[in-house]
Amino acid sequence: MEIKEMLYEGKAKRVYATENPEVLLVDYKDDATAFNGLKKGTISGKGAINNRVTNYMMKILEQKGVPTHFVEELSERRTLVKKVSIVPLEVIIRNISAGSFAKRYGVEEGIAFDEPTIEFSYKNDDLGDPLINSYHAIALKLATKEEIETIKNMAFKVNEVMKAYFKELNVDLVDFKLEFGRLTDGTIVLADEISPDTCRFWDSETHEKLDKDRFRRDLGNVEDAYKEMMKRILGE
Ligand code: TMP
Repeated sequence: MEIKEMLYEGKAKRVYATENPEVLLVDYKDDATAFNGLKKGTISGKGAINNRVTNYMMKILEQKGVPTHFVEELSERRTLVKKVSIVPLEVIIRNISAGSFAKRYGVEEGIAFDEPTIEFSYKNDDLGDPLINSYHAIALKLATKEEIETIKNMAFKVNEVMKAYFKELNVDLVDFKLEFGRLTDGTIVLADEISPDTCRFWDSETHEKLDKDRFRRDLGNVEDAYKEMMKRILGE
């Protein structure tokens, strides 16, 4: 597969064109940012871990009937994915209170919900990814009503699969962020990544944080937490 020009460089990944117009190459970086890029750093080995963890999760989700953009893992940091146009919404599912939910509603972290919640942020760095409801998303033509319905159903399905999967690894899936894309024929598929950058993982017994919150909150042992998650998921 011949790699062509770089199309896009984000905070954690670079995206390249390939000789196949329907396929892109994603290259994961060790760069880490938080708070809309205000905090910057490097998490050594993160790119390789996030690439491999994402692909592993995407394969499990495909097996469970969730369509994804995944095509083929090329190397430690590089993966081929189907070209999509990203729906500019961050889709956040929560099972346990934490992060911006705890802050916004003035509750402590760690309260288990009876039912998972869903919320959307408008993916727009200039505006700081503001919270948005589905009516506003439709009004702004970010997605159609039908697409939002599909996205909601897929996001809850992803939650059911992942929650059960991580429980076996002695990890509580606290919350996570998903992104969806449209294939050229309009089909909605799961895109972007599923990794310790985009999920909150707590050890079920010790409640130790095994995700990017260690970087966001300067808790130390950031690399170890990423490695521990890779070990539990991939066994290495
Ligand atoms: P929050 O509690 O800060 O809203 O984060 C909810 C989840 O979304 C958490 O698992 C981290 C993830 N997330 C991202 O993947 N990217 C982001 O830019 C933010 C703010 C959160």
